[in-house]
Amino acid sequence: MTLGDRRHYCPPNRGGRSEKPMSGLAKTKGPEGGVRAAGDLVVLSGVNKHFGALHVLQDIDLTIARGEVVVVIGPSGSGKSTLCRTINRLETIDSGEISIDGKPLPQEGKELARLRADVGMVFQSFNLFAHKTVLENVMLGQIKVRRKDKAAAEQQARKLLDRVGVGTQCDKYPAQLSGGQQQRVAIARALAMDPKVILFDEPTSALDPEMINEVLEVMQQLAREGMTMVVVTHEMGFARSAANRVVFMADGRIVEEATPEEFFNNPRSDRAKDFLSKILHH
Ligand SMILES: Nc1ncnc2c1ncn2[C@@H]1O[C@H](COP(=O)(O)OP(=O)(O)OP(=O)(O)O)[C@@H](O)[C@H]1O
Ligand SMILES: [Mg+2]
Repeated sequence: MTLGDRRHYCPPNRGGRSEKPMSGLAKTKGPEGGVRAAGDLVVLSGVNKHFGALHVLQDIDLTIARGEVVVVIGPSGSGKSTLCRTINRLETIDSGEISIDGKPLPQEGKELARLRADVGMVFQSFNLFAHKTVLENVMLGQIKVRRKDKAAAEQQARKLLDRVGVGTQCDKYPAQLSGGQQQRVAIARALAMDPKVILFDEPTSALDPEMINEVLEVMQQLAREGMTMVVVTHEMGFARSAANRVVFMADGRIVEEATPEEFFNNPRSDRAKDFLSKILHH
């Protein structure tokens, strides 16, 4: 069975990811001499960002362990997309530090390009190249950034497109696919770069309801396979079943961090209680 075959999304047992490493364990010396946890893959410390007068990210400290799935939720405008965009340096930060796998994100240059390639990104709006076929979309980054030869890139692209259930669509152009299929191509394209972590920014928000599950199913499968994922989503079923941790943001701050069970059953802050009452009762 390929990932896209299941028509009905049945989240697996919620306890299934408890074996995942949580951050903060097994402290070791990092390559730059500082002490860090062996399993930490993405570390943001003291990150601040402004858009003019707007303090959009305020003293963000966030550590994501290898293999962890972190769901980021919060009201519109709270800074969720900006947070994702700073992690792969689509946005600069004003102060603080972001490191990927022990290496601080540099401001620019080759090293930045290399580190950025380790961070996959899947957007709400797919962002596929309209004038390239599905297959070409998934081959391109492998050839240009990872320097693979064409045959190897094509083989990998076909394998990944099969894996997300769109293997028969290789020669089509994005506009000839449904939204759910396009988003699965976008996930295959991110996977093709062999990233250490994939950031998903509301990957199902632009989809018709009947296509949401086929995309969530692919994401659920990636989570089960141990991919490190940061997922901004309003899909609370996914958060409950796939996340190791929920990060709740409001007004540019991380207000609460908890396991999904703790967060949904017993939110601590008034902001989170208010937010949950709005999204869960509508
Ligand atoms: N390039 C930009 N220039 C100026 N302001 C921006 C820019 N990008 C985002 N903002 C502002 O920063 C704030 C946070 O935006 P962001 O997109 O990160 O929020 P979000 O939590 O992802 O919201 P949503 O749930 O609506 O996607 C908003 O007030 C937004 O208007
Ligand atoms: Mg957003």
